[in-house]
Amino acid sequence: MQVPQVALLRGVVRTVVDRIGPALAARTWGSIGDVDELLRELDGTDNFAGIGSNASVAVSIAAARAFAHLGGSETWRWVADALEATPRLPVPHFNVLNGGAHAPNPLAFQEFMIAPVGARTFADAVRAGAEVYAALRGRLREQGKLAGVGDEGGFAPDIDAPEEALDLLVGAIEDAGYTASRTGVAIAMDPAANGFGTRTGIYVFSGREHERDEMLDLYARLARDYPVWSLEDPFHEGDHESWRAITAHRGDEVQIVGDDLYVTSAERIDRGAKHHETNAVLIKPNQTGTVTGTFDALRAAGRHGMGSMVSHRSGETLDAFIADLVVGAGVGQLKSGAPSRGERVAKYNRVLEIEAADPSLPYGLVPRP
Ligand code: PGA
Ligand code: ZN
Repeated sequence: MQVPQVALLRGVVRTVVDRIGPALAARTWGSIGDVDELLRELDGTDNFAGIGSNASVAVSIAAARAFAHLGGSETWRWVADALEATPRLPVPHFNVLNGGAHAPNPLAFQEFMIAPVGARTFADAVRAGAEVYAALRGRLREQGKLAGVGDEGGFAPDIDAPEEALDLLVGAIEDAGYTASRTGVAIAMDPAANGFGTRTGIYVFSGREHERDEMLDLYARLARDYPVWSLEDPFHEGDHESWRAITAHRGDEVQIVGDDLYVTSAERIDRGAKHHETNAVLIKPNQTGTVTGTFDALRAAGRHGMGSMVSHRSGETLDAFIADLVVGAGVGQLKSGAPSRGERVAKYNRVLEIEAADPSLPYGLVPRP
């Protein structure tokens, strides 16, 4: 018997070796655009349903690395050149409490992250993340709530209310000796509301239905009572009215990020910007299937003056391309799970390596206009 992940991986490897490899070998190509175009042709659909975006993105990333290497450049510098961006070390967003689809606990909201925005360097930010994570473990143990970890390495205690999760985070930040604030160690949330909401604006959690206005009030209260600086997928991807309302009312104080809303598609980002649905975008390379598509999404966000957060997936590998991507793109925000589990830490380690090699790179969020 095969575990499903192994079967999936075998399928991806077969596609790369049997289909993509021979097609690439039969052509000459001189740029990442050529390689990605070939992948698109080979796929034949408009969303990589043919060859699968995990196969295409793996080849596209390998090609990006090869082009960087041929040009004698580190991958992050190659990204910066391609995007004409100013490189920057990102604020890491450590997902230390997991709920929703990523954990078996009753917590409906999927991710509660700590973001050391006030750290001086990326290395200091990683230290803060590790110390707060350890303090959180101590708190949970004391309260008899220490259970296992979720898909992204965050703890998955038996809690239900978002306020309880946020109290735990603020307590852990303070236990570790840091200031819980929007300029010290801040908090970011990804409720991933597709998991418990509908396009008509009904959200079911904690044993009852919440309507649109109640959700808007809840988020306003959480942003007032806790140092929440960033809020991703607060509403269902089809509930556009709510997205517009929260960005209009809270967008000045809180970053509103579209993940399921945009799925890293430049076209969808353009549409969202036109209707002022968010002021930031989540960037996941395997959602769009190529490095070129990822660049298009980053450029679209930049064109509209929106922030970008580069992200891992809940299902991950040890590959750390997103670390080079976020530094080269200079967007200042990376989420790659808790400071725990190899496939999460690999990305943070790669940024540490880049910082050690070039300590003159600035660290931190890009100041918002
Ligand atoms: P996913 O979750 O990789 O399972 O889509 C990550 C996220 O929602 O940001
Ligand atoms: Zn998300």
